[in-house]
Parts: sequence; structure tokens; C-alpha cells
Amino acid sequence: MIVAIDGPCGSGKGTVAKKLEERLNLVNIDTGATYRCVALSALNNNIDISDEMKIIDISNDIDIKFKDHKVYLNGEDVTKRIRDNDVTAIVSPVSKIIKVRENMVKLQRKLASTSDVVLEGRDITTVVFPNADFKFYLDATLEERVNRRLKQNEELGIASNYDDLYKNMAERDYNDMHKPVGSLMRTDDQIYIDSTNISIDEVVDKMVDIIKGEN
Ligand code: DC
Repeated sequence: MIVAIDGPCGSGKGTVAKKLEERLNLVNIDTGATYRCVALSALNNNIDISDEMKIIDISNDIDIKFKDHKVYLNGEDVTKRIRDNDVTAIVSPVSKIIKVRENMVKLQRKLASTSDVVLEGRDITTVVFPNADFKFYLDATLEERVNRRLKQNEELGIASNYDDLYKNMAERDYNDMHKPVGSLMRTDDQIYIDSTNISIDEVVDKMVDIIKGEN
């Protein structure tokens, strides 16, 4: 079974996917983490963000693994590191490079090929798995998403403030929705859920009901 979830940054996709993983015994694949690993690798190798050829080279033979809820880049646990501000600042332009996207989509499909999965990202319902069994678009207002991310960062010990986050997330929304390939979009065959005024647990309950055919 493939459950696909798309939505803008901070819409709760990551948390929802983790809860669905537990409740429905699925393997959760955070596709944003694959782009974050490419961005981190570019930083580690002092590659300029405008040097697309070098970033493509990195994505051609990058070693990314998901194991026990952790993300490994070349064997190193980077679960926390890929959420840092310097990675977040460059991941959007990195994810815009078409060849990088091709490589990551291939990897994501491979990661999903051996079990029942829940994948979350921006182009899962449209490009990676357009024939997924369940396709959700999870949304919330920008203000609500900024507040959630502030709280999440606080819990992770990442320094941030409302105004900078608002600017960064508005910019990422624009970039995510205006990529030449794999942009975030709403389609008629997605199940649309606006989580602005409902709790994450209510969102998960709703999805579980739909997946189990009770709604
Ligand atoms: O979900 P996230 O914030 O970890 O995603 C990081 C970046 O990767 C984000 O700017 C959009 C991009 N991304 C993408 O282009 N396609 C995906 N399937 C997932 C993420």
C-alpha cells in the first residue's frame, strides 16, 4: 500500500506521516530529507549553490539511508543536522535542479519498493506515485504553519523567530509552487485536508478512517 501526502512546509505532513506509520504499520519515507541530504553534502564539500553541475554530481552517487527513524548520509546520522538553518536556507534551490529531482525521485521509489509505505513531500501525489492508493493534500494557513514550526524548532533546540520564519516559509511556499518540475500543486484526485483549526491527532484520525474505508 502507498499513502502519499503533499503539502506546504509546516503543514504537519511529517508528524502525520510518523503517526500513520505507527497506527497502520507502514514505513515512513520523508522525501524532503533526501533533498536536505543533497544540500548538506553541498555545504560539507564547500560547493557554491549556483554551481548546478557540482550539485548534480553529488546527487548522482549520494548514499542516503533511512533506518530506525533516523537519516544517514554516507553512513553518518544526520537526522538533526539536516534541519539546521544553513541547510534549510539552500534546500529549496537545490530541489529545483531537474537532474537532482530525477535522482531523488528514483531513490524515493526504490526506498518505497519493499514495504507498505507512507511518503510525504511536495510531488508525491503527482510525480513520485501518481497511482498511490491514497493521495492527501495537507494544508494550513501560513500564520499557523509559522507558529507550529516555531514550536517545533524550540523543541529541537533550533534558534528561530517569527518574522524570519514567516519570510523564509513564504519564500519556500513560492519556490515550492513554482518549480519547473515537481512543483507543489493541488489536483482533483487528492483528498484535501485543512488542518488550521483541527489538531494533528484529528487529522490522523480522519486519514485512518479514510484509509480503512470507514469514511
Ligand atoms: O519537507 P521539507 O521542508 O523537509 O523539504 C525540504 C525542501 O525540499 C523543500 O524546500 C521542498 C523540497 N521538496 C521537494 O521539492 N519535493 C519533495 N517531494 C519534498 C521536498
